[in-house]
Amino acid sequence: MAYSREIYEEVQNKLYKKRMNALEELKFKKEVFYKRFPRAEKIEKELSLTAIEASKAVLSGGDTAAEIEKLKEKNKVLKNELFEILKSAKLPEDYLEIKYSCEKCHDEGFIDGKMCCCMKDMLKKESYNRLNKMSPLELSSFDNFSLDYYSKNFPDDKRSPYKRMSLIYNFCRKYANDFKKNSPSLLFTGRTGLGKTHLSLAIASEVINKGFAVIYGSSQSMVSKMEKERFQHYGENDGESEKHFINCDLLIIDDLGTEFMSSFSVAAIYNIINSRIMMNKSTIISTNLTMRELEKNYTERLISRMIGNNIRLEFLGEDIRQKKLKELVNK
Ligand SMILES: Nc1ncnc2c1ncn2[C@@H]1O[C@H](COP(=O)(O)OP(=O)(O)OP(=O)(O)O)[C@@H](O)[C@H]1O
Ligand SMILES: [Mg+2]
Ligand SMILES: [Zn+2]
Repeated sequence: MAYSREIYEEVQNKLYKKRMNALEELKFKKEVFYKRFPRAEKIEKELSLTAIEASKAVLSGGDTAAEIEKLKEKNKVLKNELFEILKSAKLPEDYLEIKYSCEKCHDEGFIDGKMCCCMKDMLKKESYNRLNKMSPLELSSFDNFSLDYYSKNFPDDKRSPYKRMSLIYNFCRKYANDFKKNSPSLLFTGRTGLGKTHLSLAIASEVINKGFAVIYGSSQSMVSKMEKERFQHYGENDGESEKHFINCDLLIIDDLGTEFMSSFSVAAIYNIINSRIMMNKSTIISTNLTMRELEKNYTERLISRMIGNNIRLEFLGEDIRQKKLKELVNK
């Protein structure tokens, strides 16, 4: 996948910092260790000298083989002595070696000119982080979702907000907890202020923590991003967000139907939802439009496919935004 230059630069920076940290850490470890075992420092110096002597021997000609053999032997004796010191200090044999966070590429990001999987991972994470930066992920969790806001006084169990929302809450917790790449898609419907965004964000945080690639955004912000990339000719950035919206493990489209409608927005949203249905990818959509309004905006065909592929959860209750405001005023 192609990423923008900024994302590459950020990742290269992070890799550079990792290498520097690894060096710093080793330097610090050595300082402490040498203070305790001054002999170890001498051995390390001698070891680097034998390496220089070995290359000199090669360059000088003469009886190179015998010379090298002698140096090898010296090297072995020194190393053994060092290992004994490490052992006496109950430290592992490789204690004085540099520790990279990726052993494969030594935090260079590349092995033999090919990109290492650690760098691919970092690029992906970096771009998802950028896409999620605008959302208040920390504010809405399962733990600060309270069922007390939903009325229990309903004669009809099916329409009891408290009963319905308890079911929805438990379902969402389990959904986040059990999330897999082909988990079903969900459709949250219901009036304003009932907790649709709150529960979507709670799911997003938990699924992100499980290591999945999650993108959360309002349909308006997604459309704006795609529009910018399409029409402002970002060059390398071309269509980057759209690809992520289509390819991430879980896409959460909040407030579907509130975006500024245009032929571009309808086609863009259609393309994302349809592509994800075809690839069996999980999408959570929330909306306070009715099914009829959705059909009017995005074509009957897409909405019927969407409903056929989604588990629909209909939120009930009274506007919690208002209730919270009243609580604040009455404090
Ligand atoms: N059960 C709940 N417990 C605690 N806070 C809640 C609960 N439900 C909603 N809230 C809070 O109330 C406010 C409105 O909720 P939210 O944004 O989730 O509503 P919504 O259903 O997405 O509304 P809209 O359709 O307008 O987008 C938020 O600040 C949210 O954190
Ligand atoms: Mg909302
Ligand atoms: Zn690597």
